[in-house]
Amino acid sequence: MLEVTALPLDVLRARTSEKWREYPDDVLPLFVAETDFPLAPAITDALQRAVAIGDTGYIASRTPLADSYAAFARRRFGWDADAERMRSTADVSMGIVEILRRVTAPGERVIVTTPVYPPFFELVTEAGAVVERVPLREDGKGWELDLDSIRAAFDEGARAILLCNPHNPTGTVHSRDSLAALAALADEYGAAVVSDEIHAPLVQPGTGYTPFLAVSDAARRIGYAVVSASKAFNLAGLKCALMITAADSTTAIVSGMPIEVEWRTGQFGLLAAVAAFSEESDAWLDGLLHALDQNRRLLADLLAAHLPGARYRIPDAGYLAWIDLTDLGWGDNPARRILRDAKVALHYGPAFGAEGAGHVRVNFGTSPEIITDAIERIAALVER
Ligand SMILES: Cc1ncc(COP(=O)(O)O)c(C=O)c1O
Repeated sequence: MLEVTALPLDVLRARTSEKWREYPDDVLPLFVAETDFPLAPAITDALQRAVAIGDTGYIASRTPLADSYAAFARRRFGWDADAERMRSTADVSMGIVEILRRVTAPGERVIVTTPVYPPFFELVTEAGAVVERVPLREDGKGWELDLDSIRAAFDEGARAILLCNPHNPTGTVHSRDSLAALAALADEYGAAVVSDEIHAPLVQPGTGYTPFLAVSDAARRIGYAVVSASKAFNLAGLKCALMITAADSTTAIVSGMPIEVEWRTGQFGLLAAVAAFSEESDAWLDGLLHALDQNRRLLADLLAAHLPGARYRIPDAGYLAWIDLTDLGWGDNPARRILRDAKVALHYGPAFGAEGAGHVRVNFGTSPEIITDAIERIAALVER
């Protein structure tokens, strides 16, 4: 395992991406899902080699990306994904839209399990479909799919579900049993499951993560997975994702997409993703997971010490924390007050659906110092 340490604040402030440009320098940005770590060395090398020789053209028609992801999935998840059934595109969002366009007719309904990554609402609409919200169920120990309500939605005509596994913002790794039950349900109703697995490389050991297409024959019949190196390796600006299928009928849908869908893949994104998924980057990824494990626990300690009214459940995966601040009495959208008075930018809870009232989403993919500073700034509002 490599030691992976976040960059210092003065270096981060020199970045020009959304996270570091949206707010002035007196604000600590813990909102958008970018991370504050240096790149994995194999990615830096691949990109530097490409820059040195101006390797900045279109992606080639034959690339090592699919084989590279298949090997990664085998090593990290024990999943034998078929490289012949993978096709790249610019990003996970575009993969989702292109698949949904083809598995639904205009105006048909697509289930999303709220609270959920806010652009899901727009992606469904962009595909010409209509959002049907089926909230996750909270059972006191964690969140899970509400399979009875999902069945009812399929029964009333929903044609697809946009699954988030692991789930953003709660960090939930759905159990194999619940995914198998979902697959059986969708198969029964002839509905499609589009599984966004962008956070999968960030599952913590021992959480029992199962890629949707690895769950069952039913899942393979009706499922589509969309994956990317972009969250774990902080490559969102480079534009590369993969759409994966496991049956002839679903593969025909993806291979029937125009070649332009694939050509929108960024050349730098592809080179970086191949490096990210290579065995050479495993030690870096393990180091990142270790740093995130420390951070998710640090956040629990800081909240217990400084903001006892906050309710937080340590996530199974990723670097996003879903925190219920209702008891602080700061209204439906506490992130507004926190931005104004504590100068900490968090994601607005209500953007994730009605269940997000009183909540904030905190990005802890940064240094322990920045996390500590952020929580202390917020705590000072309570003490004021
Ligand atoms: C669940 C989920 N899906 C998709 C995305 C966006 O991915 P992309 O930039 O590849 O479209 C994000 C970004 O945070 C995300 O959390």
